[in-house]
Amino acid sequence: MKKKIVIANDHGAIEIKNRIIQHLEKRGFEIINLGVDQDQSADYPDKAVEACNYFLNNNCEFGILCCGTGIGISIAANKVKGIRCALLSNSYTAEMAKNHNNANFIAFGGRIEYKDSVEDMLDKFIDTEFGGERHQRRIDKMMSI
Ligand code: RB5
Repeated sequence: MKKKIVIANDHGAIEIKNRIIQHLEKRGFEIINLGVDQDQSADYPDKAVEACNYFLNNNCEFGILCCGTGIGISIAANKVKGIRCALLSNSYTAEMAKNHNNANFIAFGGRIEYKDSVEDMLDKFIDTEFGGERHQRRIDKMMSI
């Protein structure tokens, strides 16, 4: 059975969402697309909550959220209990988001110019392992706040 990834976006991130889906399908994942497509508009907090609830009630590897900057939708996701959403800016933050923070969501901005491609950031996040040990202690503290 294919591993599942949930994704949601607002109108500020349709192109990047499509690029992400294409790449992840090529890598063999099943994508649950809860985002909007061409000519639709949405409020990013609603999209964040929909995707987080889907993630919490289904067996997903992780989730992805995209808005114009990635900021609003990641802030909203991080208010949902159990969610750790990392707003990525390059391949290094993609690696650390997994190795140190074991993020269960990552976020991107559709209106941001990244120095590393979104495909490279996705690969880095997926192919990095969580470091455990002291990082788990810090995550436990973070999640108990
Ligand atoms: C929507 O225009 C825009 O505000 C949203 O996509 C996002 O950038 C918010 O953080």
